[in-house]
Amino acid sequence: MVGKGGAGKSVIAGTMARVVARDGRRVLALDSDLLPGLSFSLGAGADPTQPPLGEAAEKDENGRWRLRKGVGPVRAVQRYATDAPDGIRLLQAGKTPQAGVEPIMGSLNAYYRVIHRLPRARTFEDWTFVGDLPAGPRHVAFGWAPYAETFVAVVQPTAQSALAARRVARIARMREGVRAVFVANRVTGADDVRHVEGLVGEPVMAAVPADEAVAHAERLGVAPVDHAPDSPAVVEIERLVAALAEG
Ligand SMILES: Nc1ncnc2c1ncn2[C@@H]1O[C@H](COP(=O)(O)OP(=O)(O)OP(=O)(O)O)[C@@H](O)[C@H]1O
Ligand SMILES: [Mg+2]
Repeated sequence: MVGKGGAGKSVIAGTMARVVARDGRRVLALDSDLLPGLSFSLGAGADPTQPPLGEAAEKDENGRWRLRKGVGPVRAVQRYATDAPDGIRLLQAGKTPQAGVEPIMGSLNAYYRVIHRLPRARTFEDWTFVGDLPAGPRHVAFGWAPYAETFVAVVQPTAQSALAARRVARIARMREGVRAVFVANRVTGADDVRHVEGLVGEPVMAAVPADEAVAHAERLGVAPVDHAPDSPAVVEIERLVAALAEG
């Protein structure tokens, strides 16, 4: 999930992960945002202050971070991912503490190494990966989603949001074998959808309505799927999951 800040990446990623897991598939949710978001929309509660993945990293004799001996992608997910509802496993790069990024450097390095080995790990062949990336194009350009086959660019019906989504989609599509699709979020009618499609220059794969239930779930600190499983936004995200599965 990519796009401008506040576009709705975390809400859509967390809800998609839950929908896929309820469909009976194994899901690994991948959270590389340094700010909170995904664990709430998944219904996994607050983020740990120290990311468990920090345990997987050590420094070599030159002071460079590496994965501890014996820690590959499978073990990293077994040991350092946490449980989320519906059997989802959640692997987090870590959240920036008050003190700055230094305390989570080990975890960030471990995360980057692990995600680059996920695509070739046979254990995960039949798993679904759902990743929530930080806002903007940088993390896409710098390879923070090497597991992604599809980038979902989330767009609100504003020019800035569409411009950001187009840029990110263009960068994502530079990698061979990758597709990028657009999803409109917080739309209030057909006019909004047409507006977004005009701005991004192609049809959107789904149009998630502005939904009071999503906002309410956030105020309560619970996942939208738990708070309002039949709300229009959740129903549209279910449709998006089906459309993505169809290819
Ligand atoms: N369809 C929707 N209807 C109503 N509110 C929504 C909807 N989608 C998202 N929101 C609200 O918009 C805000 C931003 O959503 P979210 O946190 O998912 O965005 P984000 O793209 O992950 O943001 P960030 O870039 O900060 O990570 C949240 O308060 C969320 O509850
Ligand atoms: Mg977010």
